[in-house]
Amino acid sequence: MSGAADLLIRGARLLTLRPVRQEAPRVGPFSGDLGIVEDGWVAARDGVVVATGRGTGWQRLELSAGAVERVVGGRVVMPGFVDAHTHLCYAGQRWAEFMTRRSGADYLAVLERGGGIHATVRATRDAQDATLLALMRQRLATAAQQGTTTIEVKSGYGLEPDEELRQLRLIARLREEAAIDIAPTYLAAHALPAKHVDDRRGFLREIEQAIEVVAAERLAEAVDAFIEKGVFEGDEVRPFFKKAQELGLSVTAHVDQLNDVGGAAWAARLGARSADHVANASAEGLRALAKAGTVAVLLPGSAFFVGYPPPDARRFIAARVPVAIATDHNPGTSPLEGMPSAIAMAAVLCGLTPQEAIVAATVNAAHALGRGERCGALVEGRRADIVVLETDDERDLAYRLGVPLVREVYASGRRIAGRPDA
Ligand code: NIG
Ligand code: FE
Repeated sequence: MSGAADLLIRGARLLTLRPVRQEAPRVGPFSGDLGIVEDGWVAARDGVVVATGRGTGWQRLELSAGAVERVVGGRVVMPGFVDAHTHLCYAGQRWAEFMTRRSGADYLAVLERGGGIHATVRATRDAQDATLLALMRQRLATAAQQGTTTIEVKSGYGLEPDEELRQLRLIARLREEAAIDIAPTYLAAHALPAKHVDDRRGFLREIEQAIEVVAAERLAEAVDAFIEKGVFEGDEVRPFFKKAQELGLSVTAHVDQLNDVGGAAWAARLGARSADHVANASAEGLRALAKAGTVAVLLPGSAFFVGYPPPDARRFIAARVPVAIATDHNPGTSPLEGMPSAIAMAAVLCGLTPQEAIVAATVNAAHALGRGERCGALVEGRRADIVVLETDDERDLAYRLGVPLVREVYASGRRIAGRPDA
């Protein structure tokens, strides 16, 4: 190690999430590998991990004057969470819809009648820039307090390209000021805007034009669409996705959430970075994802709140599909905030082991965002995104639902959240 460390956390049960060989999403029997070091330590300099080790090895480190040194008494220290799928950019709530759904209303029927996503589109369009920014800041702060240090943020409540661009530009402003890393996504085809009900092709042409602006202004790293019965078909958005890829963007998609529409295989064929939801993906779809190395992002929050059968994670692990999890935070299907709750739900509802859920919330989620070499593990050269838990057993994340288990959060080596007593 060259140069003095400016952050040292020691006396930890350290979850390094270190890869066994070269970095790759963890699959099959390796899906729960946490790379645990007892009595471990991690050191960082200028926001980057410079060394990790066991016992008293830290004594050989040179520390800078004013370095932060924490002795954590056997608590779990792990990489910051990566929330690979959120819709943070919205205004308004959907309490009434939530209640009708609890008494049996169908999610897609509500959408078809001009409610659901369209209700949030109206509220978001009517919100001023300053209001939307304030709402997003609040949601980011909540995420960070719960240990999220990388977060994907989608547009998608504009539908009309001009409004989508406004939202993406606001997300770009947020990105500049935020303490945590934001991965912006242009969710271009979330629902057909009212204006285009009789002109699907016209809308698809418009998003193909908009993607040129998105690419030129670097407003998004990826594009997304809602591929579902009665919403969008894979075939009709393929040209848009292809064009996005030609312009250097990655692709991801909401697929097979409520019905098996062959979306998992479709996403794999496109070389998607991730296929999200996949609760109803077929065995063939899973084989395609495994072959393509496309990450399946499971979203138990939406299954829980909407009330449909959650994805069975065991099928994905058995098929050697890389599995990630995320909050899917949005006002319609998943008001869930914070990755610890997503971990508990992924364990209880989807059948991941606590260890697999932690891998799915860190390094595999980093891969889902094209950041597999940058974050998600405490390994030399990666961003020093570090969480200290208020427990000496990481299984608590899956077990003690609702208990605030995050004691301290460091993003790029800087403390961004923590309990006053920590
Ligand atoms: O991930 N299903 C599509 N999109 C979101 C929900 C959007 C909404 O209902 O506002 C999801 O579930
Ligand atoms: Fe979503």
